[in-house]
Amino acid sequence: MLQPIIIALDFESKEKVQSFLASFSGERLFVKVGMELFYQEGPDLIRMLKEQGHAIFLDLKLHDIPNTVHKAMVGLAKLDVDLVNVHAMGGIEMMERAVQGLEEGSRGQRPKCIAVTQLTSSSKKIMNEEISIPGSIEQSVVNLAENTRTAGLEGVVSSPLEVPLIKGNCGSEFLTVTPGIRLLSDEKNDQKRVTTPGKAKELGSDHIVVGRTITCSENPVQTYRNIQNEWGITFETTGR
Ligand code: C5P
Repeated sequence: MLQPIIIALDFESKEKVQSFLASFSGERLFVKVGMELFYQEGPDLIRMLKEQGHAIFLDLKLHDIPNTVHKAMVGLAKLDVDLVNVHAMGGIEMMERAVQGLEEGSRGQRPKCIAVTQLTSSSKKIMNEEISIPGSIEQSVVNLAENTRTAGLEGVVSSPLEVPLIKGNCGSEFLTVTPGIRLLSDEKNDQKRVTTPGKAKELGSDHIVVGRTITCSENPVQTYRNIQNEWGITFETTGR
């Protein structure tokens, strides 16, 4: 059973990851490796995290022609991570080919695949005026989530605020992984559609992704515990 709280390891080197994880003294976490880290440290880092027993969301947000995404996914499946993603904006065929690639490349159970709908840093103004997608963020998110389900993926990345809408349209089993999480005391930084961990749970998020709130905290372990508490998890039940 995967932890509901995913810690975004947004660091630029393996050394920084190691020193961050050291304070968790061997606790098994659900971590997210994104572009910043993977482009520097590559598959070796994934192997290291797996050896330490962490569950891994490899957040590379693939978006290319279907054939390229298919081949990339064959390779990523070999890393035996738990969760990968694509941009739903790449279209249904691209997403179908992503899943096929994962099936072909994996040795056991294939990694789950989810799709980014609208980035949580986006806004209606950006979507309408810069990217020329008309309508509301919610309309675009529902459309992209429905395409994702049609293509056979397990769920989407979205803002927690959109979870009820997504679950309403795609079913309660359809996974929602939600970044854009802030504690009441935090800065929003570049995130626009944010909520607290407790509110995300109330809205029905399956997993929250938390980056700077934990990684930039003076006491990351304590902040993680506070978020677990807000989610209703006690330390004893975290599977150490
Ligand atoms: O530091 P913060 O909590 O804002 O980090 C959120 C993490 O989730 C980052 O790693 C970011 O790349 C990722 N993410 C996001 N919005 C999405 C998809 C992923 O913020 N739609």
